[in-house]
Amino acid sequence: MFLLYTNKNDIKNDIKNGVHLPTGFINGKGLEEVVISCTPCHSAKLVMQNRATKGGWISIIRWMQDTQNLWNLGTNEAVIVNYLSTYYAPNQKGRREAYKKYRML
Ligand code: HEC
Repeated sequence: MFLLYTNKNDIKNDIKNGVHLPTGFINGKGLEEVVISCTPCHSAKLVMQNRATKGGWISIIRWMQDTQNLWNLGTNEAVIVNYLSTYYAPNQKGRREAYKKYRML
């Protein structure tokens, strides 16, 4: 699914039980920035299939900037990297929490 949101309120309206339904992203600080910046070119699923530390997410972003025409994320980059390394971190706790949220749907 390819999405292009431009309005943060539209994103908020699509959150149910802690999950942004159209993408499957876990609700949290930075969700809006991630949905806006990370779903125009590929599915959210491609993002969520990956888990990484802060440094790991920054490398993935740099790789897309170097090779896939990803634009400079400016001040949103820190917000996005914090979100991703919190909810899509390479550890069991994050995985279980994500699973639990899906089970609530
Ligand atoms: C300008 C287009 C574009 C945007 C915007 C974009 N990406 Fe990507 N991204 C790509 C392309 C192209 C690929 C390679 C897709 C493929 O292999 O099918 C990719 C691949 C990925 C991968 C898989 C990397 C791998 O090693 O398999 C991840 C994770 C990812 N993107 C995360 C993100 C995140 C997080 C954001 C938001 C900050 C984002 N993308 C925004 C173009 C983009």
